[in-house]
Amino acid sequence: MDARKLNPESIAAQALGWIDEQTRAITPPIHVSSTYLRDTDNQYRTGRVYARADNPAFDQAEAVIAALERGPHAALFASGMAAATAVFQALAPGDHVLAPKVMYWSLRNWLMNFAAHWGLQVELIDMDQPVAVQAAIRPGKTRLVWVETPANPLWTITDIAATARIAHAAGALLAVDSTVATPLLTRPIEHGADIVMHAATKYLNGHSDLIAGVLVTARDDDFWKRVKGIRAQLGGTLGSFEAWLLLRGLRTLHLRVQRASQSAQRIAEYFAKHPLVEAILYPGLPDSPGHAVAARQMQGGFGGMLSLRVKAGADGGEAAAIATAANVELWKRATSLGGTESLIEHRASVEGAGTPAPSDLLRLSVGIEHCDDLIADLEQALLQAHR
Ligand SMILES: Cc1ncc(COP(=O)(O)O)c(C=O)c1O
Repeated sequence: MDARKLNPESIAAQALGWIDEQTRAITPPIHVSSTYLRDTDNQYRTGRVYARADNPAFDQAEAVIAALERGPHAALFASGMAAATAVFQALAPGDHVLAPKVMYWSLRNWLMNFAAHWGLQVELIDMDQPVAVQAAIRPGKTRLVWVETPANPLWTITDIAATARIAHAAGALLAVDSTVATPLLTRPIEHGADIVMHAATKYLNGHSDLIAGVLVTARDDDFWKRVKGIRAQLGGTLGSFEAWLLLRGLRTLHLRVQRASQSAQRIAEYFAKHPLVEAILYPGLPDSPGHAVAARQMQGGFGGMLSLRVKAGADGGEAAAIATAANVELWKRATSLGGTESLIEHRASVEGAGTPAPSDLLRLSVGIEHCDDLIADLEQALLQAHR
């Protein structure tokens, strides 16, 4: 069956409908071999040599993710960070890179503390403003523009198509961390992106039980070969069991993302005018700065991530936010996102110095519980924190 004709729900539910030809099994076996037999004439006709470079355990998950993103190829990595850093490591020292001021903090730290020392010229800009991208890009010198949309932890929105046009006119590639949008809500390649990255740890797997990353390319070109070479040689390779678990999680991606997005929208609307809430940051709210672009770029919802700024109590906003997180019973106080269980965290405590997160901000990852229970729990926690 031609996956290009299928809707994402059908691709995901049947994991492209592959069966194991040898056994007719509908779910694949777990391939664990680290090495492959050489033919008697000294060739490797299967193309498989050693599992640091490639592994049949990756084939189906990579094919499903590539089909969902409408790209020709995907590559699994040992983590989202391994996937993202492979893109930057495929550049050459001296290359100029634009990245957002608001982005996943650990990757921002790596860019400033490692990539910059390794020779990349990294410039952090307001990526949600095309005029800022236009002003910062250096034609012939900028090799990569990195976008995250919606972006941690303020959920700012970047117009992928507009940014791709600016990047391409200057001879740069556009890479998009689409972890929060998932391929259900946004397919960056259709908007002009050259590379899509996901922390597959999050929604793609969806069960908070593995660490994984993935890249999808728009073209099988030299840059992609370099990225694959980095995986093979530096060894940021996923384990076989994790690849199998990821494939299992992918089968319900659509149901989980739809539910999380619907609940996040309801939670955002409920607390937007709440007397104990300073502000809700969520692109699904019509008065949010990124709403118009998000409404164009995201189909079927605005994702399961939002942030809530807690109104200051007697001891200020930060204390009220930390007290709110301390008083939840159903929400889990933990970092990460995209699992079936809802998570809450005081983001400035996680990110430390240099965070764009205001000190009164709680980051919420909405899971698939009943939305009424999530709202009731958060409201009682806010009330307790303001007693
Ligand atoms: C948006 C985003 N990108 C990248 C990453 C890194 O992924 P991993 O933790 O799998 O390395 C994360 C992790 O939180 C993330 O939220």
